Formats: sequence, C-alpha cells, structure tokens
Amino acid sequence: MALRTLEDLGDLAGKRVVVRCDLNVPLADGTITDDGRVRASLGTLNRLIGVGARVIVISHLGRPDGERKAEFSLAPVAQRLSELLGKPVAFCDETVGDAATAAAEALEDGDVLVLENLRFNSEETAKDVGVRGDFADRIAAMGEAFVSDGFGVVHRKQASVYELAGALPSAAGLLIEQELGVLERLTTEPERPYTVVLGGSKVSDKLGVIAHLLPRVDTLCIGGGMLFTFLAAQGHGVGSSLLERDQLDTVRGYLDEAAQRGVTIDLPTDVVVASGFAADAEHEVVAADAIESARFGADGIGLDIGPETAARFADAVRGSRTVFWNGPMGVFEFPAFAAGTKTVAQALTEVEGLGVVGGGDSAAAVRSLGFDDDQFGHISTGGGASLEFLEGKSLPGLEALGWSA
Ligand code: 3PG
Repeated sequence: MALRTLEDLGDLAGKRVVVRCDLNVPLADGTITDDGRVRASLGTLNRLIGVGARVIVISHLGRPDGERKAEFSLAPVAQRLSELLGKPVAFCDETVGDAATAAAEALEDGDVLVLENLRFNSEETAKDVGVRGDFADRIAAMGEAFVSDGFGVVHRKQASVYELAGALPSAAGLLIEQELGVLERLTTEPERPYTVVLGGSKVSDKLGVIAHLLPRVDTLCIGGGMLFTFLAAQGHGVGSSLLERDQLDTVRGYLDEAAQRGVTIDLPTDVVVASGFAADAEHEVVAADAIESARFGADGIGLDIGPETAARFADAVRGSRTVFWNGPMGVFEFPAFAAGTKTVAQALTEVEGLGVVGGGDSAAAVRSLGFDDDQFGHISTGGGASLEFLEGKSLPGLEALGWSA
C-alpha cells in the first residue's frame, strides 16, 4: 500500500490538525545548537498554515523518561519555530489536559500551538499497547486530523507515532514524503558506483546496516571509533582506542563476506593517535597497523582517521554516483581531530549524483564544521530512522500511514 499524503486528508481549512514533528534538537544551556530539525518541519507547517488549518504541533525532546524535566522543555523550540515561521507561536506547558485542550480550542485559522514534550508523559513510550492507545486518544481528542511528519522518530512504536495515526484521519507530511523519496533511491537500484561511509563510535549500532548493505554496495568505508574493532579483527593492536571485543567475530564475518562478494571494505591505513581523550591531547599520525609501537604505546587512543585514509575515502566518495554517509570519522568536536570528517564532508559536496548525509551526529557534524545544508544532495533528519530504513526493517511510523516496503 502507498503512503497516505496530505492530499488524502482533503480540505483542512478551519480544522484542528495535530502535527507530529521531530523537534528533538541539541540544546546547550537552553540554547539550540543545531536547529536543522526545526527548519525541516517548516514545509509542512507552512503548507497547513497556508490553507488555514489550526495547527497543533507535538514532539519529543531528549529522553526525560516520563518525567517533567525543565532542561527538556520544548519552550525554546517553540520560540525558534516562531522566529522561523515569522509569526507568533503559542506554547502550552502540558501535552494533554485542560490547559492543552483550552489552548487548542483557542486557535484561529492559520494559528500554531506547540504542546509540551510528549515524553514528559510515561504513556508516550509505554510498552503496554492499551496505555499508549489511551494517551493517543487524549491527543486525538484535541484535533480533527493527524499529520505525521517526524521522520526521525518513525522507527519508534510510540503513542504519537503509531497509535495516534489510527485514532484520527491521518497522513504523512511533506518531510516524511521527501525523506522516503531520497532513501528509496538508496535502496532501489541505486546508481553505481555506490559507496557507503560509516563512522560513529560503535560497531554494534551499525551491525544491521552493514549486513544489509554488504550485498548492495560497491565500497564500504569504515571510520570513526568503530574502525578500531575492524583493525583488531584483522589482528592489529589498537592501544586504548575504543574496542568492542564482543563484536570481533561478527566483524571478521563481514570481512570474509565482503571478500567473497567482491565488495571493498576500505579500512583506514593511517590514524591520528592521541595521548588521551582531550581537545588539547598530544597526537600524531601513525600507520593503522602500528598504533602500539608508536609514541604513546598501549596508552595511545585513536581519535580520527589519518590524512592518507581521508584522501582515499574522499576519492571513493567523489568517484561515486550514489553515496550515503552516517557517523563522523573522528572526534570532530575537537578541532585537532576533525580533519577526517571535514575531508569526507567536503568530498560529499562534490558528488555528481546523490550524496546523502544520514542524520543525527553526521548532520550536526557537517553544520558545525561550517558546511551549508544546500551543499549536500540531502541531509536526513533521521539518524536511527534512516539506518533502520537502510537495514530494510519495518518502520512502525510509516506502516501506520499505509506504507510498506
Ligand atoms: C533521534 O534523535 O534520532 C530521534 O529524535 C529519535 O530519538 P530517540 O532515539 O530518543 O527515540
């Protein structure tokens, strides 16, 4: 079945429309450090405002575990949304209840209301289907239609993502439509050569995607903290670098499978090794198979891919027609260890074809390194969601909208 879209909801003028966005943005002392997800929600919100709908925005922020915690309030996000929409946005400091209902009823055509963090209510993420269903019904009672547009959360079977779609006439918003369109190009006959670059700290987060992509890609480049488990699987000492010993056999299995399939798993040949995990740690570039015999010995900790590796990954990226990148190549938050991530990001901007940045840390990385969103083919708003999509998993939030793989 096909995804239900806004057109399927008919005329929304004057109707109260609940919109599930993913406004889960990084905050530091109450200030949004990357508003990418707020900007990504504007398309659908402006469309609904334009047709005269009465818009009720719901979202989670962080993982407050069912408790009201001030640092996870959506208040600063509502403020940012108001700036970006260029109009007042009402904010209610509860998600459901008398005040939320009154705020929803006070909306005029084209008005926007943001309700407080869904996850201040334990029912949102409850395991019990009945509990989630009741919570979804309470949200549904405030609206007449539901637009699901939080792509970053479609892999979660949570009340506002799954049950709510069944409690009101529902459809996907423009962001989900756009994200799906791009990700389907990565899974359905991608233009070749097809290169995937994976980084981030843990191999265990990427197992599913590696297994699913191995038969589909031409080249898989491995950077980030997870590269050290690959090096260790090849028998190299990795000093004090991040290492997931329990994944060594799985990783060896991937290396064998890739060899059999003729897929290149490109592993770093040089790395930046530091004396400790600190922005100002002493560091040097060493051959990937000589970490422990270099200056810091067994205390050395790898914090970035080296320049030779970065240049090779960049060549693979530039020479491809389809590229998906998820996970920083090193500790990009420390300038001394950001070069690998920056080199790969730069190459991705030069891809003649489709270059996709896969959400979460990678999106934050490219923005904090000074790149603009429009330099890339697509920056996904979903980290976990885009990975699970590429793993071929069923995504509850999409299924609830009529989509099937
Ligand atoms: C994300 O940041 O990937 C999404 O907002 C989902 O958040 P979660 O992992 O806390 O469910």
